[in-house]
Amino acid sequence: MEPLMGDTLAQMAVEVLTTADGRAKTALSRKHAATWFAARAANEPLEIGTAEPPLHPARPTQPELLNPRDVPRRKPGSEKGRLALLHAVAHIELNAVDLHWDMVARFSDVPFPIGFFDDWVRAADEESNHFNLMCDCLETHGSHYGALPAHAGMWRAAEDTAEDLMGRLAVVPMVLEARGLDVTPGMIEVFRKANDAQTVSALEVIYAEEVGHVAYGSKWFHFLCGRYELDPKDEFHRLVKHYFHSTLKPPFNEEKRAEAGLPPDFYWPLSDAEPPARG
Ligand SMILES: [Fe+2]
Ligand SMILES: [Fe+2]
Repeated sequence: MEPLMGDTLAQMAVEVLTTADGRAKTALSRKHAATWFAARAANEPLEIGTAEPPLHPARPTQPELLNPRDVPRRKPGSEKGRLALLHAVAHIELNAVDLHWDMVARFSDVPFPIGFFDDWVRAADEESNHFNLMCDCLETHGSHYGALPAHAGMWRAAEDTAEDLMGRLAVVPMVLEARGLDVTPGMIEVFRKANDAQTVSALEVIYAEEVGHVAYGSKWFHFLCGRYELDPKDEFHRLVKHYFHSTLKPPFNEEKRAEAGLPPDFYWPLSDAEPPARG
């Protein structure tokens, strides 16, 4: 009998992208990440290969996806508001799983050191855990992912940058995931005040690991700027203005952004506010 040939990394990525159910998607994502890292540890890395990722990843039938302005406003002080917040974070995490596998599959023909693939597979694995953690918290409170409507626009950044890897790196990890660093401490406070220890510790895991995802974005963005002899700050400004349809909103988490390799002169000029005066 012919030995079974293993999947390439790009094929594994497409398998995750075309799995609709959230828990099934994250289970497959974690399994593929474990396979990738086991092969790396054995010094027998899987072939990267090429594959055709779908323009839109498969999604479960629930939640209903609404235009952002039609998603009901949440009041975080109430139990219902906190559930809506958990649901929104679960939705972001599920999109993030697909965003990282899409990065692997869509740009697998761009030559990179193997560390590029290590980083995005690790990020996808962590997002899968984040989604599962948020689902566990929702279920503790008698709810589940899919019980509430969610934003339909979450995949837009991926679609807009489907042909532009540097645009993808600028907008997804360096703008959207960096925004997560700004808002997560406030969310942790909301759940701490509600004495919800399970959610506090889940959000603390997310907060710590998201610094890494922003850092991967900054690292590979700078790598490509070096390859193409571009000024990183100017190129970042150009790409964010081109692909991101809004200004960046302070307050910024300058400490965590710095830790992730995002200096203030990258993001302050893209906001509609002045940086605070320094003594
Ligand atoms: Fe995450
Ligand atoms: Fe992330």
